[in-house]
Amino acid sequence: MCGIICYVGKDKAEPILIEGLKRLEYRGYDSAGLAVQDGDQICCHRAKGKIIELEKKIGDMTIPGNTGIAHTRWATHGEPTEANAHPHSDNDGNVFVIHNGIIENYYSLKKNLKKSGAVFKSETDTEVLAHLIASYFDGDLNKAVRQTMAKVEGTFGMAVIHKQVPDEIVVARRGSPLIIGVSDGGTFAASDVSAMVRYTNKVVHLNDNELATITADDFTISTGQAQTVQRSAETVEWAAEDADLNGFPHFMLKEIYEQPDTIQNAIRGRIDRGEGVPKLGGLSPVWEQLKECRHIVIVACGTSYYAGCEAKYVFEKLTEIDVTVALASEFRYRKLNFAPNTFIIAMSQSGETADTLAAIREARRKGASLLGIVNVVGSSIARETDAGVYNHAGPEIGVASTKIFISQLTVLTLMALLLGRHQNLSLTDGVETIRALEALPDQVKDILSKANDIQAIAEKYHKHGNWLFLGRKYGYPIAMEGALKLKEISYIHAEGYAAGEMKHGPIALINPKMPTVAIIFQDSMYEKMISNIQEIKSRRGPIIAIATEGDEKIRELADDVIYIPKTLDILNPILSVVPCQLLAYYCAQLLGRNIDKPRNLAKSVTVE
Ligand code: AGP
Ligand code: GLU
Repeated sequence: MCGIICYVGKDKAEPILIEGLKRLEYRGYDSAGLAVQDGDQICCHRAKGKIIELEKKIGDMTIPGNTGIAHTRWATHGEPTEANAHPHSDNDGNVFVIHNGIIENYYSLKKNLKKSGAVFKSETDTEVLAHLIASYFDGDLNKAVRQTMAKVEGTFGMAVIHKQVPDEIVVARRGSPLIIGVSDGGTFAASDVSAMVRYTNKVVHLNDNELATITADDFTISTGQAQTVQRSAETVEWAAEDADLNGFPHFMLKEIYEQPDTIQNAIRGRIDRGEGVPKLGGLSPVWEQLKECRHIVIVACGTSYYAGCEAKYVFEKLTEIDVTVALASEFRYRKLNFAPNTFIIAMSQSGETADTLAAIREARRKGASLLGIVNVVGSSIARETDAGVYNHAGPEIGVASTKIFISQLTVLTLMALLLGRHQNLSLTDGVETIRALEALPDQVKDILSKANDIQAIAEKYHKHGNWLFLGRKYGYPIAMEGALKLKEISYIHAEGYAAGEMKHGPIALINPKMPTVAIIFQDSMYEKMISNIQEIKSRRGPIIAIATEGDEKIRELADDVIYIPKTLDILNPILSVVPCQLLAYYCAQLLGRNIDKPRNLAKSVTVE
């Protein structure tokens, strides 16, 4: 989605804003702009396309002023053009506003504002904010924004400056994240930490329907009813280099190679080895209820949904709990009846995915208890759930989710193990599972050491336009996730399928130009997977097998084999997804794709 970065402080605003916009590029956008205030003058520049286009527009101009707002837009109302780029202003050019989200009643507001003389210069919904604020402004910018919030339906993270109110920015949020950053050099506001992590790691999250006035050395938060809110800053764990490439060609590859650390970060401080029991302090607010729970519904989108699909099998193995998994975008429209003491687990890296957020709000209305497994501290989903577990995976910049998937599987396994050890799981089982979890980082490193072999396989098949990914039981969600990875960054069509479904239709597709990635573990599904592979071979379909080390039989059948180390059945998914990620990455690289910012995609889908 679009990004927001604001600054007011001791230094010139423009360079800080441009640097911040560049750190927000990964979020996906189509145009950008900034407005910088110097006394009662405001200088505004906007450009369609990448940040570099905005920099070209600014050129060698020195833009005076230490107060500024800047925005990368992901269009929802009006084409990606310069005229529709943010900031937007009122008739007199006094108010400048940037906005993330959708103003759902903009049409009626626009009609009324036009009757009052407002002259609209863009097709966007956002522009109504500038005219509304101007219409309420009587010298108190915070009040004008608050009055505007009361009129607006829909979602916003917004920032506003006014010519007559120098050295001050008013920010407000409803449904789109907005975070204040505090430092000795000044005060920031941004849609996410990465835009300001170079300058500060002290942040304060705004809640929905809150606004704040920020100045060089202070910030004041208040509610839509003008009640002042006291909220101290949190320290985020991300360091500035976390948002850097550190020598990798792409964030996606960097994050694939971070996965050994990701698993450790998910486990660190959460294991009682002697008792074979995890410690998940984030669940303590609901533990008495949760440990008796026998029904869990996992809601998520995209890769997070596939992590939930995997969790279903893991919970089934380790606990007596009935787990169902639902696409958040479908779940929220269903007639929901929950069994008593049902817990909803929202899986979300960003913690801002609109469909997932809406799904838990609907579940709340129906009386369910809510848990979140989220990566972004203080994000909306994190704050709207009763308890939860953070991934602690650091920023995931690549649009294609990789390390977060593995982190989610690790956290879900810890959660299942914790609950299982309060049900029928023995100490021995617990200790064995923990040992296997702790062995994973080195096993992932072992797979990463084969990256060149995987690259060679990608070279062999990257020109094929259709791929199939097959798996059974623990391998099935990995087949779906592997297909999604390939689709979203290489643009090759791929389908993830339950291997048992082959004979119910997809086998008609098999041909020598259609590679099949077969995810085959040495588990109870092995023989059935061998049969599926033989069916494909007999129709001359190429097979790329992801198989367990020591499996020699598969070598006779598959055209190419990528081995993963032996581990517990429930942990095979964590290892087997790594070859899928690398296959997708290398195919995309060979095809010259924009790997970290694939076309049409955004890192966090905060609009429906
Ligand atoms: C996965 O590679 C995609 N980027 C996308 O499917 C993503 O997983 C989905 O949008 C959910 O995002 P979230 O985890 O932030 O809620
Ligand atoms: N709805 C606004 C627009 O289309 C903001 C979209 C965004 O979040 O970037 O300009």
